[in-house]
Amino acid sequence: MKIILVAGARPNFMKIAPIIRALDAKKSPNLCYKLVHTGQHYDYNMSDTFLDDLYIGKPDYFLKIGSDSHGRQTAKIMTEFERVCIKERPNMVLVVGDVNSTLACAIVAKKLVVDLAHVEAGLRSFDRRMPEEINRIATDSITDYFFTTEKSANYNLLKEGKPDSAIHFVGNVMIDNLLFQKKKLEYEDKERFVFCELKKKLGNYIFLTLHRPENVDDFDVLSEIVFALNIIADDMPIIFPIHPRTKKSLKQFDITLSQQIHTLDPLGFKESLFLLKDAMLVLTDSGGIQEETTGLGIPCFTLRDNTERPVTIEEGTNILVGNRRENILVEYEKFETSGGKKGMIPKYWDGNAAKRTVDILEKILKKGEI
Ligand code: UD1
Repeated sequence: MKIILVAGARPNFMKIAPIIRALDAKKSPNLCYKLVHTGQHYDYNMSDTFLDDLYIGKPDYFLKIGSDSHGRQTAKIMTEFERVCIKERPNMVLVVGDVNSTLACAIVAKKLVVDLAHVEAGLRSFDRRMPEEINRIATDSITDYFFTTEKSANYNLLKEGKPDSAIHFVGNVMIDNLLFQKKKLEYEDKERFVFCELKKKLGNYIFLTLHRPENVDDFDVLSEIVFALNIIADDMPIIFPIHPRTKKSLKQFDITLSQQIHTLDPLGFKESLFLLKDAMLVLTDSGGIQEETTGLGIPCFTLRDNTERPVTIEEGTNILVGNRRENILVEYEKFETSGGKKGMIPKYWDGNAAKRTVDILEKILKKGEI
């Protein structure tokens, strides 16, 4: 029995790593896998460093797709992935998350009548202006086996008419990765991280990530966010690893960041975790970081009006602050007086989600169905 695992962009690597570990731990002679890296992300800092940090190893296939418009990128991934699928003839394709690689490979698998598993299925922001929401809806519309991270996802899938028997609430593989890496980090030589001195010097700091097109591609929106960030940074310094998309926009719009916002190149996973885990507050528009902050118990402001991960708000440390300056600053004032939102760890965010997933996959592949 053969599974093809697909990864293409930064957050995919964090989800695939624990699944690989769980598959390796099985040591099952009847279950093998091939890893396909589409190359949607390709810079050293956006790709190779993650493969190293997360102990993923060299992918079996690297498709070298690179950046392009959504249509062209998706089409190129489909063309190349189809060749791989025809050659490998897998019993199942497993995709993770909601990036263009997820959707492209899902379509190819189903057109070749290969079973399709989706890890992190069923999440919905109900905002169809987000490319990820389209990827999520379209992928789930053709998925055979759904692996979910929170109950809201089961509810969404059932409402969309998916059979209960195909939906498996297994927990969160991002949190598997977080807990695994946090332990590993204890034994790392942190002095080798270029910003180690900066971290020591700053003491208390805020960690920021910002890359969503709806936040960074529009001058007015990005200016609003930066206006608020510059005021916040006067109170507490901000460390900001900049995504290439955001770097381009800041330059193009000629928007200046406060000197108290310390920018860094995109970071590998370990470096990023080293900063994230000790932050007083995290500001982000990423999906995964909303979950990781809940996993770490660190207050998080999500610079969006919605989230596809509602459990981080209902149970975790996340607050939606939107992207208007007044809202962000009002919430920051509350943080200053209260010390930030406390949360609890959602069900099955316990480090064993990948094991649960692989146990179920093995049963599916053995019996043809469970
Ligand atoms: C993609 C995902 C998004 C995810 C994010 C994580 C989609 C639709 N979006 O967004 O869900 O949260 O990855 O980072 O799949 N670039 C580089 N080097 C790279 C990769 C990209 O410089 O290795 C630059 C290119 O100029 C590119 C831009 O970043 O045009 C955006 O990259 P792209 O992969 O299109 O989307 P992301 O914004 O990274």
